[in-house]
Amino acid sequence: MSMDDFMGNPVSVRISKVVHETTTACTIIFNIKSSSFTFSPGQFLMIWVSEVDEIPMSISLWEPPKVGVTVLPIGEATESLCTLQPNDWIGIRGPFGSSFTLESKRALVVGGGVGMAPLRPLIYNLRDKNAEVTVLIAAKTKQELMFFEEFSQLSDDRLRVSASTDDGSEGFEGLAPEAVKEILNDNDFDTLYTCGPELMMHNLYDIIKDSKLAFQASLERFMKCGCGICGTCALDPTGSLVCVDGPVYSRDYLSKITEFGKYQRDAMGVKKKF
Ligand SMILES: Cc1cc2nc3c(=O)[nH]c(=O)nc-3n(C[C@H](O)[C@H](O)[C@H](O)COP(=O)(O)OP(=O)(O)OC[C@H]3O[C@@H](n4cnc5c(N)ncnc54)[C@H](O)[C@@H]3O)c2cc1C
Ligand code: FES
Repeated sequence: MSMDDFMGNPVSVRISKVVHETTTACTIIFNIKSSSFTFSPGQFLMIWVSEVDEIPMSISLWEPPKVGVTVLPIGEATESLCTLQPNDWIGIRGPFGSSFTLESKRALVVGGGVGMAPLRPLIYNLRDKNAEVTVLIAAKTKQELMFFEEFSQLSDDRLRVSASTDDGSEGFEGLAPEAVKEILNDNDFDTLYTCGPELMMHNLYDIIKDSKLAFQASLERFMKCGCGICGTCALDPTGSLVCVDGPVYSRDYLSKITEFGKYQRDAMGVKKKF
């Protein structure tokens, strides 16, 4: 295996556009040479922010040569990314990791906050395959709902879009799992796809674990190399590497992960409870 196969082909790309999605999050769009990359929904890039850090970001837009990542500023690297402007440069490696399956015919897609980022290309792919898709977009407030207007404008009899907000400013008032219980009462799905806060995903897993519904969740863990070298992103107790075996895991595998919904490790390997 060549170094490029292993680490991804590191390239510098120039930002072409920055879209402000919510009051805090933005999508950074750049052009790639399409022939050198392949992508499936759920995969991520390692994004190099000059003089700051290299961090994992899900691909939220894949229309080669146009590619984008949607960033929520929470620390040094993500805040720096959000200050970049068209014509600034970033480095990218990847795409890395596992992806969502696309066989569903009746899908429920639940995204919390910036967790909607990897679900966005998934929703478009499922639609292209003629699946019936129900999307629940969750956030603390209406202002933080990610891609809600975009998908609401596209909604039709095969794409149903609703929201849940903790403060009730849009859609269902309360946490996403409560809204999902209501949706499941009235509808029949074959697969629930989710990405967002891990406690939300774990609550969804608890809701469906005794049913026949397939379940796929995209996990986040602290990453250094992003490509299976350093071991930082290993899950207890199996040692599965989120950057290689994940970030998308199915319900059978999640049932073996004792840390799912309980804790993750920081940069030093110290456990941090959710
Ligand atoms: C596969 C994958 C895909 C991701 N996709 C996106 C995305 O599409 N959009 C987005 O905004 N963010 C995404 N993230 C999270 C993003 O990588 C982190 O927010 C970022 O690395 C934080 O870097 P920072 O320097 O800004 O903050 P730091 O100062 O490094 O950290 C700020 C806080 O966030 C915690 N943190 C840092 N990295 C992670 C992590 N990987 N998982 C959980 N907590 C972390 C730290 O412990 C600290 O409490 C993704 C993470 C992974 C693993
Ligand atoms: S981040 Fe290094 S092995 Fe996953």
